[in-house]
Amino acid sequence: MALIGTVPRRAVNLPPGSLGTIIGKRLAGKVIHGPELEEYAREFAAYLGAKHALFAASGRSAFQLALEALDLTPGQEIIFPAFTFPVMPMVAKLLGFEPVFCDADPETYNSGPEHFEPLITGKTRAILATHLFGLPTEIEELRKLTRDRGIHLMEDCAHAMGATVDGRKVGTFSDLAIFSFAVGKNMPCLGGGAIVTSDDGIARRATKILETARVPEAGAVFKTGVSTWVKWLVTRPLVFGWSVFPMLRLKLAMGKPLMDSAVGNELLAKFAGSDPKITAFVNLQAAIGLEQLKHIDAFNDGARRNARVLTEHLGDVPGVRPARSINEEHIYVYYPIAVDADKRDDLRHHLLRHGIDTKTTDMADCAVLDPFREATEKRTDRVSPTEAALLEICVYPVIPQRKMRKIARVIRSWAGLPEIKP
Ligand SMILES: Cc1ncc(COP(=O)(O)O)c(C=O)c1O
Repeated sequence: MALIGTVPRRAVNLPPGSLGTIIGKRLAGKVIHGPELEEYAREFAAYLGAKHALFAASGRSAFQLALEALDLTPGQEIIFPAFTFPVMPMVAKLLGFEPVFCDADPETYNSGPEHFEPLITGKTRAILATHLFGLPTEIEELRKLTRDRGIHLMEDCAHAMGATVDGRKVGTFSDLAIFSFAVGKNMPCLGGGAIVTSDDGIARRATKILETARVPEAGAVFKTGVSTWVKWLVTRPLVFGWSVFPMLRLKLAMGKPLMDSAVGNELLAKFAGSDPKITAFVNLQAAIGLEQLKHIDAFNDGARRNARVLTEHLGDVPGVRPARSINEEHIYVYYPIAVDADKRDDLRHHLLRHGIDTKTTDMADCAVLDPFREATEKRTDRVSPTEAALLEICVYPVIPQRKMRKIARVIRSWAGLPEIKP
């Protein structure tokens, strides 16, 4: 069993010196309040080219803040891509809005104007455009679509921190955008999320709402900091090979589940039962964020280079569809490959036996999930990618290019294709 040269499904990305920052802020009593919060708001907005950035404890909390700050009326419709992270439409539903689901392109996994437009009705007040897996959607066209109809355009940039369209950062094309700094994203800040907007009214209302947000305990934030750092450590490929990987191999040998997170209906039930409330982002998270900003462009470039290796070597593999790369602006927060749904687990197990851990996706065809089924029952002609066909491969720059070639070789051998040169 290979213990050296293994690849984790996610490699937590923390900037150098994070443990020192976590301990230092705790000792200085600056975990919750401190000067970094304002500085990060300024720097984050400036990095993107937007006027305002406001933060919350997660991407979903930021989305709740966004919907409240938009001043919509409950009962109004918000259109979401059917293929997305299902907690987002659930936030809207819990706030009393009606989520409506449009088709998504099975090759890019994104929804563009041709998908959103047919579902716009007199009740539509907003749409959420999502740049899934880090591939920008057709955001300029969506802006044109919504501009003259009095519909709010929002962007979900949880996967797309640093991605651009014609050189302009995603998150700046809409009325407001949300970002996620969760542990599995490209710029984790011990969790966290942001709203970005250039609209003074939205920023003012969001600031007011944040004044009454729940504030976490310093001790709890510190604990999250330390546990995130431990996750960083065990997802360094070398450490991973000697810690989590043997457990995964054992589970595989015993036919047990491979440590996957709750998805679909189970995830939604958990979320709805958690009494979601807007919670504040704190100073320690901002301090980590400021460091992350210095490295994010180089990090995304490295992920792109690694993704290119897979795209190059997987294009001719029958039955395997690599992520569509339409330009150099994709940042590949995850690299999805699609196979026949009934072969997905076989490929996953084959890769794991060769030292490569992969992730099943947390994205889902939301339209068929229990809380939303009623809303979409009427449509029989829907097109949406199926999550059961997808595997996400980590292409973060902590993984060397020769390892990416190995991943391609293992996938090719699984498909019965000839070897490529190491
Ligand atoms: C597309 C998408 N949007 C939003 C979110 C929510 O982010 P968070 O987990 O920080 O709440 C996620 C989380 O995985 C996501 O994948």
